[in-house]
Amino acid sequence: MVNVAVLGYGTVGSGVVEVLGRNREQISGKTGEEIQVRYILDLRDFPGDPYEDRVVHDFNLILEDAEISVVCETMGGVGAAYQFTKQALMAGKSVCTSNKELVAMHGTELLALAAEHHCNYLFEASVGGGIPLLRTIQNSLTAERIQAVTGILNGTTNYILTKMEKEHADYGEVLKKAQELGYAERNPEADVEGHDTCRKTAILASLVTGKTVDAAKIETEGITGVTQADFDFASKKGLRIKLLSVIKVEEDGKLLAVVAPFLLTEEHPLAVVEDVFNGVLVTGNMLGDTMFYGRGAGKLPTASAVAADVIDCARNRGRTVMEGWSREEAELVDIKELKSRFYVRTSSDCAETVEEAFWGGEGAAASEGILWGKEYGFFTPAMKEKEFDEKCRKLGEMVLSRIRLL
Ligand code: HSE
Repeated sequence: MVNVAVLGYGTVGSGVVEVLGRNREQISGKTGEEIQVRYILDLRDFPGDPYEDRVVHDFNLILEDAEISVVCETMGGVGAAYQFTKQALMAGKSVCTSNKELVAMHGTELLALAAEHHCNYLFEASVGGGIPLLRTIQNSLTAERIQAVTGILNGTTNYILTKMEKEHADYGEVLKKAQELGYAERNPEADVEGHDTCRKTAILASLVTGKTVDAAKIETEGITGVTQADFDFASKKGLRIKLLSVIKVEEDGKLLAVVAPFLLTEEHPLAVVEDVFNGVLVTGNMLGDTMFYGRGAGKLPTASAVAADVIDCARNRGRTVMEGWSREEAELVDIKELKSRFYVRTSSDCAETVEEAFWGGEGAAASEGILWGKEYGFFTPAMKEKEFDEKCRKLGEMVLSRIRLL
């Protein structure tokens, strides 16, 4: 018997209990022993819930119970969740989590603690929801030098962008719906401002490079500036707008990591990833591209990934299976030196001035500009971000918005 404690009986925590309960037979068949939820830690009581008798309010009960070998941290946040995780690992109890904020902030330390105490800190659900991505990178793509990872890693924003594009839906209404469906973070700012994708990017990049990647150093931009006008322009050009996580490992070992909305062609494999789905394209130097697709958010898909980690812990008692990454910090490429093409939107009255600033008067045809209503959109030539920013600074409010081309 493997005894488990679940910390936090919210969307994901209750999902983990449900998955372990509903798939009990399949799971015990694969694990070789029964997995039982002995405690559910929460501040609240849950009268009438089938598991109400397991609800406790004191973490020490769990910590001091020598028969608890796995703890699922589904509380979220970096306060109590961090303290409880550390204490559990130091007591030799494995911890499985969906908490990307905690993994991105303290993963290096928690992985080291798990190794030191011969247990595991597993966080499959923290990136890509239900997609088995981290385990695949660590256990299956072992013969590869991973060169790039390009992904749609946030279900909420992909859902919002899809509805805005396909149904011309109002941003606020769609966000509300995403929250009702249990996709969004407690504070949806983390989704729409790109912080959630940034944390997932830091985790993926750390795994790919084997070094610590500081989320705070990743260039991050959300979707709040993307308008219907941008979708109009994109659709006229056969392009899609997606919030992407772009990770590239350069030949010199430096790491490029960016989170931002990008324009991509309809032929790009990630262009068809819609609604709450996530898609991740991993490029290895031998394999080439391989793509992962699945539900990136939601109760049961996320819980399924946490439960799979519990099974991994049960199968590997006393053995650390997650290599993770070292304390050495990855060196990031300065994004200002990066060359990109941009789509720029401006009002029609200053279209000529803005276009000329980027093309010097000779490239109007190359800019592929389109006038619609009172607005004008065009592409810039490839240029370094610092040059682009400098021009935009000079043009001031004439530039209404801009999006990078992938
Ligand atoms: N808010 C997150 C998302 C949840 O929408 O992807 C899953 O990490």
